Amino acid sequence: MAFAIAEIHPVFVGEGSGIDLRKPVSEADVAAIHAGMDRHAVIVLQAQPVTDEEQIAFSRLLGELELAVGGTLQKPEEKRLKLELADASNLDHNSELFARNDRNRMYSLGNRLWHSDSSFRPIPAKYSLLSARVVPGSGGNTEFADMRAAYDSLDTAMQEEIANLVCEHSLVHSRAQIGFDDISHEERGMFGSACHPLVRVNPATGRRSLFLSAHAGGIVGWQRPEALDLLRHLVEHATQRKLVYSHTWRVNDLVIWDNRQTMHRVCRFDDTRERRDMRRTTIAGDGPVVAAAACKD
Ligand SMILES: [Fe+2]
Repeated sequence: MAFAIAEIHPVFVGEGSGIDLRKPVSEADVAAIHAGMDRHAVIVLQAQPVTDEEQIAFSRLLGELELAVGGTLQKPEEKRLKLELADASNLDHNSELFARNDRNRMYSLGNRLWHSDSSFRPIPAKYSLLSARVVPGSGGNTEFADMRAAYDSLDTAMQEEIANLVCEHSLVHSRAQIGFDDISHEERGMFGSACHPLVRVNPATGRRSLFLSAHAGGIVGWQRPEALDLLRHLVEHATQRKLVYSHTWRVNDLVIWDNRQTMHRVCRFDDTRERRDMRRTTIAGDGPVVAAAACKD
């Protein structure tokens, strides 16, 4: 059966069929995935029981990998998975559930805010590929919002107002939103920060999208309360239910999303009792999307 993608939501999201990621994937199928990402922004692939190595090998066909360095409280020697994989699970390096008051668990609750992966990096992520190895009995969906549709549905005055705005992104801001402000000086330095335009253009399609994220905590040249007020307004607009797809995970699902064109968040589940083992490979972006000089200190 040839690889094909069928849209499964009124606005975006495709489901692929006719592909086995454990076997060599043809150049034609890789091209079809890129084209599918430009069109659907999220692609769901069911029944892909990949190993870590198979997931990494397939991901490399789509672009250069972003390594899971920084962006976490864990030092490299404390990680459960190799650096090519970001650990999106609720498990410590011994594969035990994080204790309720574990600092790593508190930090990871920030993933329940709407965000775009790695928007705090100077080169933000292009695609994320998340493989579901163990899923909880209930809850723990990942929700996606189409940021192209969000931009398109703004009125012209708002589109003009935000056309040239640049946002400041930092993990410090997303964690502050959930009350995680016990961050050491060393960690603050490790988190880093970056500036990106609020409106991005997909180079392949020319389509504009809102580049929002929980990490966005300011707008260059704006007072902070005014910036946060506008960003909150835009996030609420962008995540209205008709623009959202909620993915209920099955074991061995692999979902690919475009961080340039979507936001996502994890939904609540009983994470102190149920295991949710999710492993993410991340495709780096093509380069910085705004000159570093646009970012104030
Ligand atoms: Fe994420």
